Amino acid sequence: MEKLVVHGGCTLRGTVNISGSKNASLPILAAALLTDEPVVVRRVPDVSDTNYMLQILGQLGASVERYSGIVRIVAKEIDSVATYEQVRKMRASICLMGPLLARKLECHIPLPGGCVIGDRPVDLHIRAAEALGAKVEIASGVLKIAAPNGLKGANVELRGDNGPTVLGTDNLMMAAVLAKGTTVIDSAACEPEVVDLAHFLTSMGAKIEGAGTSRIVIQGVEKLHSTDHTVIPDRIEAGTFMAAAAMAGDGVTLRRVCREHLTAVTRLLEECGHTICFNKEGDVVTIVAAKNPTSGKIVTAPYPGFPTDMQAQMTALFATTPGISVVKDTIFPQRFMHCSELKRMGADIKVDNGRAVITGVKKLSGAPVMASDLRASAALVLAALKAEGTTEIHRLYHIDRGYEMIDEKLLSIGAAIERKPDDEED
Ligand code: EPZ
Repeated sequence: MEKLVVHGGCTLRGTVNISGSKNASLPILAAALLTDEPVVVRRVPDVSDTNYMLQILGQLGASVERYSGIVRIVAKEIDSVATYEQVRKMRASICLMGPLLARKLECHIPLPGGCVIGDRPVDLHIRAAEALGAKVEIASGVLKIAAPNGLKGANVELRGDNGPTVLGTDNLMMAAVLAKGTTVIDSAACEPEVVDLAHFLTSMGAKIEGAGTSRIVIQGVEKLHSTDHTVIPDRIEAGTFMAAAAMAGDGVTLRRVCREHLTAVTRLLEECGHTICFNKEGDVVTIVAAKNPTSGKIVTAPYPGFPTDMQAQMTALFATTPGISVVKDTIFPQRFMHCSELKRMGADIKVDNGRAVITGVKKLSGAPVMASDLRASAALVLAALKAEGTTEIHRLYHIDRGYEMIDEKLLSIGAAIERKPDDEED
């Protein structure tokens, strides 16, 4: 077990390279199962979630090689059964459903269960599989899906009560690329990570139109072939560092970003008085913190709206921004675990039915805190950078799931932060 020890009060200055996207990598790595030819994926971040996915692909029978951000996968012969032991550590393993179903016409995947950010249902994934003609059974916590007569293209309305589903759209796209006939996905998710998956599949010979819009049309093909693909930059890591720079920075530059993917976060930071400058190409951004920042209001929404994966980090920013800020999460209404830990550091936050009301305080105080989920842990790191005194963040494995070397990157721009063994019991 490890912890992060952060001594607050340093000013962040300098340049950081943003890693490849975790949330684009996961479905793309799963999609490598759709061909028996070699697949190369570049800029795969070295985080536990991608490593779990690579372990599972190996256990399913694929050969997996990884060297400095490059992954080479050859899925010649694969099993169709993922075990609880393999997938219990990562909810996103549900994105194995589409490729396994398309390649093997059957799959057994343990239900992902919930997590601290809320209940994580899979009813839309089941709707997608059944629409293509598969039979779905749930027995002792396992999704058992079979399509003995093959998969047949269909029109699928994929909207749920909380809007589109990212991994549900991915699963349906990955199942449909080898189905017979045409599949139309309505209310598809428009996230850049869905578009990156569509680009990956197209480079393997899939026929996909409309990725990035709410209607995606897929013409099934016989077979997919090898490819070499570089994943997009991680827009949530970039947003997290933009928030850090706005909280505790004096000129921080991020390289390897994508301006188009950061419009909601950029707009919010500018509305709060911070200065955000992109270069002409839009792949480098410099953030200068406002001398007198103003409060803000966030309502999360599916892309291109404000991302739910950034609301915890912004809550940390609002904690020391004068005035009253409001954060409402319409996608994961329970995603406020970070607030109780921020309050232990002196933040003034009231949480009620899917909304946090934050009254800015003059200062936060360092304290021992507990990480609870990936983005909540990031919020605690940001608060610790700003706080007076020392903060110890326990259960660091939460942050290592999705941030590549966050302590090294923060160290390189002047943070006083170190990773240490944690003798505290989990
Ligand atoms: C993806 O999760 C991301 N994970 C999440 O990021 C992100 O928060 C989420 O999309 C929303 O943008 C990956 O890409 C690996 P959803 P996903 O299906 O696809 C409901 C992070 O921090 N829903 O788009 O699992 C669901 O409850 C992670 O990097 C159903 O009702 O999320 C939620 O309210 C956390 N039925 C809404 O849809 C279903 O069958 C959106 O969820 C599926 C989802």
